[in-house]
Amino acid sequence: MRWLLVALSVPLSFADDYRIQRATSPIVVDAKLDEAAWRDASPTSDFIFNWHTSGDKEPTEAKLLWDDNNLYVSWRSTDRHISAYVTQRNGPVTRDDCVEIFISPNPQKVTNYYTFEINAIGAMLNRARTDWYTGGAFWDPEGVQYRTSFHGQPSKDESPDDREWIVELAIPLKNFTRDAAHIPPRDGDEWRLNLMRTGGKTNAQQSTWSPIRGEKRSFHTPENFGRVIFVAEAREEAPGQRRGQGGRGGRGMMRRSFNPADVEAGRVLYNRSCTMCHGVDGAVGDRAPALGAGRRYTRVTDAEIFDSIKNGIKGTLMPGLPIKDDDNSKIVTYIQSLRATAVDVPVQGDPQRGAQIFFGKGNCTQCHMIRGQGGIAGPDLSDLGVDRKLDDIRQALTTGKPLPSRGWQPVSVTMKSGASFRGIVKNENPFSLQILGIDSNLHLIDRSQAARIDYDTKPLMPANLDKTLAPTEFQDLLAFLARQARRRDPK
Ligand code: HEC
Ligand code: HEC
Repeated sequence: MRWLLVALSVPLSFADDYRIQRATSPIVVDAKLDEAAWRDASPTSDFIFNWHTSGDKEPTEAKLLWDDNNLYVSWRSTDRHISAYVTQRNGPVTRDDCVEIFISPNPQKVTNYYTFEINAIGAMLNRARTDWYTGGAFWDPEGVQYRTSFHGQPSKDESPDDREWIVELAIPLKNFTRDAAHIPPRDGDEWRLNLMRTGGKTNAQQSTWSPIRGEKRSFHTPENFGRVIFVAEAREEAPGQRRGQGGRGGRGMMRRSFNPADVEAGRVLYNRSCTMCHGVDGAVGDRAPALGAGRRYTRVTDAEIFDSIKNGIKGTLMPGLPIKDDDNSKIVTYIQSLRATAVDVPVQGDPQRGAQIFFGKGNCTQCHMIRGQGGIAGPDLSDLGVDRKLDDIRQALTTGKPLPSRGWQPVSVTMKSGASFRGIVKNENPFSLQILGIDSNLHLIDRSQAARIDYDTKPLMPANLDKTLAPTEFQDLLAFLARQARRRDPK
């Protein structure tokens, strides 16, 4: 048997879903990436060399941005040997140094995807692999703009000066109307995609943002596409720095204390007067948007919300409502509490009894750590109350996620020897698999010694705690979790 058991001493971090931020400044497509918007954008996690056998693993820094018209993509490829010869449209560009993005705008139908493959001198190949496209092997997207570092050259030979090359791409979102839920996307919309790099004469490595697993060694495996979430807010910056979008919104903005009696009174008033259109408890309703979900609001201050309720919102269905000012203020308090982070809002239940459940019968510490105590197969929850809203925490405990998040892919392995493991995939290649076990050990599995490897489609998180715990126990646990805020500890 050739697997190892390694006790873990260092905290591990994982790649997660990529959040596509709104561009903070206009973008000129010139393969320079010198705009503030690109500087502000976060890169994806490192590309993975799925089938590596030997040679340099040259890194790629990829970023995505969006605005109402375009999805923007950039690749900055470190490369000591840059070569490209294909110039014809839809030619075999992947022989050359080439970058690619494959996009599924509908996460329910990942097999409908669109490809953009661009070599270093700017030849592009596109396909629409969708159930509706009947136009043959290739596809002509509308209005695409792109530039590469060696754009338009008749060829590019390898040179001792080769260091890196850039591709900048703007794809009009209207190309995806057949498959996307919304164009432009709405805050929180999820798509699936993969970013890749391939080809070249010397050291032609293949690497991808989202790892490619399974037998088929192909980029055309949409089941391996990673998850991206469109976010309407610009990235939050460190305190004291410029904040995008005129300084409004963003996490941490709503830090304030809420009077529990006002919040409760506001909730009752809201459920009585507003749920004709909005949903119960601030959820989305039949005729009006959610007031407490993770989206971007046009009315964010107390005064703006108060005014919407008193006078309505012109040009929309939102009417002015005959509500006493005093009651209106309580509704405003309630709405703000829905938008605030969990630690700032009142929660019913006893946090101390909740802690007993967390560290005791709830068995949460099998996978989660709080302040250094517990397991590592799930996320550390020491700052949960600052990172999440109360409703998000409630949802994590009750409805969970339909698919495991990127970085939290569960797997079960049975070895030929009979030993078995369950945990999270940390790293993998065709020969081996690294698993972070629910036993909190790191297992290195030799694939040839494994009898079975099963990738679970559901997250490890047992998300039915409202059913397995008594109602008061559930509330106590929620109260405990909502108070986890190590970052707010006095120094
Ligand atoms: C007749 C239907 C209707 C009723 C009743 C109603 N709303 Fe609305 N409300 C809407 C619609 C539609 C919008 C979206 C307006 C828009 O498109 O900007 C809205 C928007 C809002 C917004 C702004 C959301 C944002 O994006 O910033 C607030 C705040 C709001 N409503 C609060 C309330 C409250 C509180 C009540 C009850 C006191 C209430 N509404 C009752 C239809 C309604
Ligand atoms: C078998 C392992 C396992 C156990 C046991 C477990 N969790 Fe989880 N939990 C996870 C994993 C893995 C995730 C991340 C899932 C994902 O995003 O796909 C998670 C996610 C969460 C989240 C969301 C975190 C966030 O940042 O949004 C909360 C809250 C949570 N768990 C609380 C609990 C509580 C409370 C218990 C005990 C009653 C518990 N978990 C038991 C594995 C576990």
